[in-house]
Amino acid sequence: KVYNDYFFDEPIFDLHDGGYIPLEKADVKDQPLNIPAVIKPDKVDGNDVYYTITAQEGETQILPGKKTKTWGYNASLLGQTIIFKQGVHYHIHLVNKLSEVTTFHWHGLNVTGPVVDGGPHAPVYPDGSRDIDFTLDQPAQTDWLHPHPCPNTARQVWNGLAAAVVVTDDEEAKLPFPRNYGVDDIPVILQDRSYHDNQLDYKADYDVDGTLGKYALVNGTINGVFNVTTQRVRLRMLNGSDRREWRLHFDDNHEFTQIASDGGTLPEPVKFTKLMLTCAERAEVIVDFGDKKPDDVVTLMTDDMPIMKFKIGEFAKDDTKLPEHLTTIDAPKVTPGLPVTRTVMSGMDDQVRLDGKLFDMQRIDRKQKVGDTVLWDVVNTNDMDGGMIHPFHMHGCQFLVLSRNGKEPYPNEHGWKDTVGVNAGETVRIAVQFTKFGVYMYHCHILEHEDTGMMAQIEAYDPNHEHKYHLISMDEM
Ligand code: C2O
Ligand code: CU
Ligand code: CU
Repeated sequence: KVYNDYFFDEPIFDLHDGGYIPLEKADVKDQPLNIPAVIKPDKVDGNDVYYTITAQEGETQILPGKKTKTWGYNASLLGQTIIFKQGVHYHIHLVNKLSEVTTFHWHGLNVTGPVVDGGPHAPVYPDGSRDIDFTLDQPAQTDWLHPHPCPNTARQVWNGLAAAVVVTDDEEAKLPFPRNYGVDDIPVILQDRSYHDNQLDYKADYDVDGTLGKYALVNGTINGVFNVTTQRVRLRMLNGSDRREWRLHFDDNHEFTQIASDGGTLPEPVKFTKLMLTCAERAEVIVDFGDKKPDDVVTLMTDDMPIMKFKIGEFAKDDTKLPEHLTTIDAPKVTPGLPVTRTVMSGMDDQVRLDGKLFDMQRIDRKQKVGDTVLWDVVNTNDMDGGMIHPFHMHGCQFLVLSRNGKEPYPNEHGWKDTVGVNAGETVRIAVQFTKFGVYMYHCHILEHEDTGMMAQIEAYDPNHEHKYHLISMDEM
């Protein structure tokens, strides 16, 4: 079966938003798609691997003429790709070379909060550094690194901070997926930006309901072209936009197969011609160009706008078929006797709230016992102006989506996720388990909503280990 549907409710797509900025075609020649380099370790010592990650300023040729001042991790824009392996112990030296405080948030990594995971309680001051370490103990997936300082996340991402994080493991390595980074396995980081005399100007473009840009960028490239040299290509798609939803499809309605969602491999591959990603969601897809011939061009689109091109070259025939079953995800064993946790996203613009409140860095909003599996009803009550989709994200866990308004989740929602788009008027039921004690954020991932305060924090507690957390205040940021 091939799905030809975005599934989400069309009347609340971002393009119906009063402040919607349609994408425009940039007057930029086709250029090679940027493939971020892979970060090299400082040191490998048995199972201990050491990295330095620096948030830095730089300049990037994005438009013709003057370079654009941009920020990145070990790069002038976005960041070098970080490849982690399950079971390895990582030691990371985080360095801030920016002129303002930032944090290094591992979106999707199951590491402890509120410090290692790099939420707002883990500031790194200008010219300062912080050392973290963790053992990677989760399956293969595509995650990302982005800043999370309250309330400047949106601007710092807009300026360029975002890096792809690829987790590998031995199970996924056995599946017939392309995995030659940069050749048949590439990140596709989807973002939109506007430029003013070739420069970013977040203030000028700011929208409290989520800042949108005029031009589509993939991995920081406008009108990028990727040369296809293998029949099958794996795209690690990430919506790294502050606000924009991407309604992806190819110009020739080429079919593609999703093999993984936020938290890793799907139980079964899912075939599509259309895929919508809300902010921060990831989808790994395989595109089989076996029906194409050299010099054919296939264009990736969002709505009616081209985003990037795939230029077909010579390749060896590779008719590898994916197995019908990729991995086993057991139905969650919900801990008996616990009430359903209800959390409510409401409002638009500066009226956005989470459970009727704005974020307070020193308030723990909820508690959940480590190891318990709890049902959460994530509600989007928003009916202002017809409403909008709020992408709901949790730190410190990957959850399973059980239902949408009591009905089956979308066909590509049968895997682990950390971010789920919730339609206006919808209740999405998820099963949540924390495996590590700590304090974790949960929030809307429209970055301006998060910065406005559509965010809360939960303590995952272990009754046998009382833990005191130092929760800093906004003044310490
Ligand atoms: Cu990707 Cu709390 O965020
Ligand atoms: Cu996160
Ligand atoms: Cu929101």
